[in-house]
Amino acid sequence: DELLERMCREQAVEYDMVLKDCNVATMKRGAAEPYGMVEDAVIGIKGGKIAFVGGGQGEEGKRVVEGCSNVKDLDGALVTPGLIDCHTHVIYGGDRSLEWEMKLAGASYEEVAKAGGGIINTVSNTRAATVDDLFEGGKKRVAAILSEGVTTMEIKSGYGLEFEAERNMLLAAAKVEKEFNVKVEKTFLGAHAVPNEYKGRSGEYMDTCVEMLEKLREEGLVDCCDCFTESIGFSVEETEKLFGRAKEMGVKIRLHGDQLNNYGCGSLASKFSCLSVDHCEYSGPEAIAAMASGGQVAVLLPVSNYFIKETKVPDVKTMRSTGVDIAVATNCNPGSGPCCSILLVMNMACTKFGMTPEEALRGVTVNAAKAMGKEEEIGSVEVGKAADLCVWDAKRPAELSYYMGLNLLKECYVDGVVRA
Ligand code: NIG
Repeated sequence: DELLERMCREQAVEYDMVLKDCNVATMKRGAAEPYGMVEDAVIGIKGGKIAFVGGGQGEEGKRVVEGCSNVKDLDGALVTPGLIDCHTHVIYGGDRSLEWEMKLAGASYEEVAKAGGGIINTVSNTRAATVDDLFEGGKKRVAAILSEGVTTMEIKSGYGLEFEAERNMLLAAAKVEKEFNVKVEKTFLGAHAVPNEYKGRSGEYMDTCVEMLEKLREEGLVDCCDCFTESIGFSVEETEKLFGRAKEMGVKIRLHGDQLNNYGCGSLASKFSCLSVDHCEYSGPEAIAAMASGGQVAVLLPVSNYFIKETKVPDVKTMRSTGVDIAVATNCNPGSGPCCSILLVMNMACTKFGMTPEEALRGVTVNAAKAMGKEEEIGSVEVGKAADLCVWDAKRPAELSYYMGLNLLKECYVDGVVRA
């Protein structure tokens, strides 16, 4: 008994905190149960990481609870990994509600872009803004996204399209990480559109993008590089120039692809070992096969599909049957998706794209982590990963994508600490 007592005492110093009486949708890959569900579970947290996950009725589970002085009873609540919004343009200057009115009156997304509206419109407002302006403008959107349990988000540049303004956007993204309790992946998207001063000279602008990437990476402001490869963006050849340099520099690569046309983005992504192809409405069977063999995640953005009234939807069935991992994200941006709700995205992934609620939850957890090259660290409730967790007032995980406009989040942990 004395020995047992000592062991329990030692367990007490082993865990900083223990959560008990919860149902955990671990989202672990290859788990036998749907959602990787562990019922009546115990989670042990140590040093901001998950150190134990298991049933509360088993010997080990009981020992973990008994040996910790900081035990929280979750009273049967549902726990999931902290949610991940893996594709956002949440930092920008100005707004485009006027342009939206235009589109409602009949102008298409492509027509607005060709007429000098769209992305370029936001560029002038972004260039006129300071880092603080950009941060202050983005704050309310970030806060809304985080309120639904997002613990990691990606933030892209791409509305500056010149060195200082791109840098300001990335500095504002870094400030989001500092001021909010959220992990931020900073993505350089200088190749988002050709700025007016380079009109008709997209190749030259791409050279400028390469230079910007080099400098911004040196400053520690870039985790990842992205490109809008599209009829109204950049050609495959231009994209290859940027990605070739990014690869040499060891920068992670992602791709805005096949949003408006079948542009062959699957094979491009595969060639450069991109982490993801994002949008994918027009990705055909060949592109999907290339993504399956290249291991790219298809990041689907259902709110944008809805918002720009696109009628073509991604071929989820072929993605599923060929084993392409699917993530979903808000794509929060001023033009094609002013959306600040990851839960609404999950709902739309099911209703519009035919995903299951389990696939939708995978899309904002483990697959979103993979799309950012962070699957080792986050995305599932597994020993060794960050204790980024959401506690929900829900019995079944499907409730998260079922409701619209109802936030069931009770509390959220980032690295094992409750976010206020
Ligand atoms: O992901 N496709 C390119 N970029 C954004 C749109 C940005 C904008 O219109 O401002 C997107 O949809």
